[in-house]
Amino acid sequence: MIVVILKDYQAKGKGNLGKEKQNHNITVSSSFLHNHGLGYYLNMNLNLEVLMSKDFFPMATTSYAAILTERNLNGRELTPQNNSSPKYKINNLNFWYGTHQALFNINLSIPERSVTALIGPSGCGKSTFLRCLNRMNDLVEGTSHTGEILLDNEDIYRRSLNMVDLRRRVGMVFQKSNPFPKSIFENVVYGPRVAGIQNSAVLNEICERCLKNAALWDEVKDRLNQSALNLSGGQAQRLCIARALATDPEVILLDEPASALDPASTARIEDLVFELKRDYTIIIVTHNMQQAARVSDQTAFFYQGKIVEVGPTDHLYTRPQVKQTEDYITGRFG
Ligand SMILES: Nc1ncnc2c1ncn2[C@@H]1O[C@H](COP(=O)(O)OP(=O)(O)OP(=O)(O)O)[C@@H](O)[C@H]1O
Ligand SMILES: [Mg+2]
Repeated sequence: MIVVILKDYQAKGKGNLGKEKQNHNITVSSSFLHNHGLGYYLNMNLNLEVLMSKDFFPMATTSYAAILTERNLNGRELTPQNNSSPKYKINNLNFWYGTHQALFNINLSIPERSVTALIGPSGCGKSTFLRCLNRMNDLVEGTSHTGEILLDNEDIYRRSLNMVDLRRRVGMVFQKSNPFPKSIFENVVYGPRVAGIQNSAVLNEICERCLKNAALWDEVKDRLNQSALNLSGGQAQRLCIARALATDPEVILLDEPASALDPASTARIEDLVFELKRDYTIIIVTHNMQQAARVSDQTAFFYQGKIVEVGPTDHLYTRPQVKQTEDYITGRFG
């Protein structure tokens, strides 16, 4: 039970408080706050009038507040942001496919060992931006950019950059899982083999460790030599994550990794993302805003190639500063 101080509170038919109170201390159960999507504010010393005032807390965002509360209750608090030495720093990035400009003046800091979610309607540039981060767009003919992308303070477009090293440091997993037509084992150790590792004991160790880290080991340990093409969609996606982990990356880019999966597989991927952020910097594109609220620490809202708003996930979902963000996260357009 917690005490809420009501100052000149006019009950407006919300909840079970019922009648007008003035400057009373009243006690409400934590479930009252949860039921109103206000549980996130449980331990903050705010008065209920402020909480329920529309200016402070658009009621349409209460379902996100409930998700954020659940995160806290499950020990999945947001990783506090420390932008003093971000993993990535993107300055004034513009990007073109031929003459079509897809990104406009993007500025973003991506903190290390945390999850950054990119949200926004179809075609707004999320995947384009993600593919800039490991220069995958270089493979598309006729692309160009201005601005800079710093990874650990070094421009990834510098001349001396070793592309193989960049792709090793920044792993990527796509929307549609793409296991190679090889065994499960060979899929996982593909990167290390290409890097020249031949010792079978070392490859075995990498395979087991990465499958465990991708939460797939128990399901496949007895059939490592069977084709990866027989795995279920959710298993295949986790295999691709294991394959990305095998090159010992520092950053993992996930482009809608759960969009084709059922709820149980989606939940496993989300659990995994949460586990992985202890060791890796994760950037995830998702159309599922509840998912972004469940797993990310920072969220950037893209619209028509621009970042409209970026901030800590709890702020962006419960107290968006820009009307367009609020309209998008509450489903008014998209
Ligand atoms: N290879 C390409 N060549 C030319 N234009 C492209 C290419 N890839 C994307 N675009 C264009 O760039 C813009 C941004 O596309 P992008 O794929 O980054 O959007 P998105 O936010 O990832 O969308 P979705 O949610 O549908 O995946 C769109 O206008 C798209 O048509
Ligand atoms: Mg995309």
